[in-house]
Amino acid sequence: MTEIVLPNDINGLGNLMGGRLLYLMDKCAAISAQRHANMVCVTASVDSVEFKSPIYQNEVVVIESWVNRAFRTSMEVELRVVAENPLDQTSRLCNRAYYTFVGLNDEGIPTPVPAIHPETDDERHNYESAAKRREVRLLLSGRLSLNDAKHIKEDILATMTASE
Ligand SMILES: CC(C)(COP(=O)(O)OP(=O)(O)OC[C@H]1O[C@@H](n2cnc3c(N)ncnc32)[C@H](O)[C@@H]1OP(=O)(O)O)[C@@H](O)C(=O)NCCC(=O)NCCS
Repeated sequence: MTEIVLPNDINGLGNLMGGRLLYLMDKCAAISAQRHANMVCVTASVDSVEFKSPIYQNEVVVIESWVNRAFRTSMEVELRVVAENPLDQTSRLCNRAYYTFVGLNDEGIPTPVPAIHPETDDERHNYESAAKRREVRLLLSGRLSLNDAKHIKEDILATMTASE
């Protein structure tokens, strides 16, 4: 998704407002989720978002998003935000984030979404690590107990074994 930063989008310092960027990221992620699921999808959660670099008026915001993994009714969507300066053709990475979307049926009930079949090494890495991130977000939201956090427990055990 590509957008130019116009006067209506900026704060008093001339930078793109964080909330405006989150809105654009949510829209872009929703498109990826709905393209994958072929159904209406809603945002269930947004992991921590770090604003690494300001984006200035007249710069071009390029947001890429893709589905790392589908679980049952939910999907992890990853985003990458780059700011481009159209005058000197430079660009820089400004944000990365993970959004979770849930597919809904016509009654608004969470509904199973198609699986993801990773093909490249990057896709396989994103697919595997998505299961750990899901456990962390479900733990933090109180939807999962540490006892049931299989991947997190495996990681802790592996770290302890390596340090022995
Ligand atoms: C998201 C929503 C559909 C979940 O409904 P629910 O009744 O909790 O449904 P379930 O318990 O069956 O959970 C559905 C899925 O959401 C996931 N989920 C729910 N809350 C989550 C959270 N905080 N983080 C990550 N995943 C979450 C569950 O793990 C489950 O995924 P799975 O089926 O792949 O295992 C519901 O809370 C909702 O409609 N929220 C409002 C969505 C919205 O309006 N978004 C825009 C906000 S501005």
